Amino acid sequence: MALLEVKNLGVQFATQDGTVFAVNGLNFSLDKGQTLGIVGESGSGKSQSVLAMMGLLAKNGKATGQVLYQGRDLLTLSAAELNRIRGNRMAMIFQDPMTSLNPYLTVERQMTEVLQFHKGMDRRSARLQAIRLLEAVKIPEAARRVDMYPHEFSGGMRQRVMIAMALLCEPEVLVADEPTTALDVTVQAQILALLRELQRDFGTAIVMITHDLGVVAGLCDEVLVLYGGRVMEQGDANHIFHHPSHPYTQGLLRAIPRMDGQHEHLLAIPGTPPNMARPPKGCPFAPRCAYAQDACAQTPPTLQATGPSGALRACHRPVQDLTAPEHAHA
Ligand SMILES: Nc1ncnc2c1ncn2[C@@H]1O[C@H](COP(=O)(O)OP(=O)(O)OP(=O)(O)O)[C@@H](O)[C@H]1O
Ligand SMILES: [Mg+2]
Repeated sequence: MALLEVKNLGVQFATQDGTVFAVNGLNFSLDKGQTLGIVGESGSGKSQSVLAMMGLLAKNGKATGQVLYQGRDLLTLSAAELNRIRGNRMAMIFQDPMTSLNPYLTVERQMTEVLQFHKGMDRRSARLQAIRLLEAVKIPEAARRVDMYPHEFSGGMRQRVMIAMALLCEPEVLVADEPTTALDVTVQAQILALLRELQRDFGTAIVMITHDLGVVAGLCDEVLVLYGGRVMEQGDANHIFHHPSHPYTQGLLRAIPRMDGQHEHLLAIPGTPPNMARPPKGCPFAPRCAYAQDACAQTPPTLQATGPSGALRACHRPVQDLTAPEHAHA
């Protein structure tokens, strides 16, 4: 049995504008020690997919499908049952550390509270465990800094504190929502190296959200490429990185930020994502796709295997039609 199995996950939001179909028909499974990458542009449904898994959707949101953690469907658990799993067996790292760190409490207090709640530890052993974790994420002078407040740490160090906090209870699944986008390139690389190390040492399974396919190639086993709340391409991360077979994935790859740049250039794909309150009838990417044909605007393509790699793609055009992308926009 997979550690985590997501079946036909959907997320809908009730809005004044009608129902927003933020995530549609997501399927994946994750084994111990594996890393799954979820990539896609802003608004593609990455965060809502994982928030749904963790039972953290906004009040107007609703998750459908199944999220099986060790065979139990998290979507059917009570708040109390979910609280025992969340932060303990499954933990989350948010893009902005201040969303999960309390500015009014020292790091020590926040970390020991988690251990007292989930592990029933006494304060003294909880403190030692907290220091041990801060050392594991390479915070210098952890025994002294544990008594500091979040704002006393730099951005990169705060992100490390949050990773330490997420790893406190040695979760089996770590969900990281763009844990490095707010950081400069050098610190980003350090944090990613750290996650790789922690995974090796703790055997943690990771769900990693990013809009950088370069990060995926360096860290992930599997990747899921989302667009307009739908999976465009899914499979072995290395294979897809080297042989992207969907026009959207190809576009994302051409948009990988260079290490010298300060910003991520996603301008390589012209146009903007669809309004999710009025999902297009056909392929959501069709209006921006250089290869779109009539069928693309009419019928949504289904996810199908492309070949022996087992990778799946949702595209009406045969792979061999997509060989000259640099001329396609002309
Ligand atoms: N509470 C809400 N009510 C209505 N729509 C929402 C709500 N929360 C999110 N959405 C919509 O759901 C869609 C998916 O959002 P999501 O946060 O998953 O994007 P994302 O891929 O994480 O983007 P980013 O890279 O910017 O973080 C977006 O169209 C967003 O506007
Ligand atoms: Mg997001």
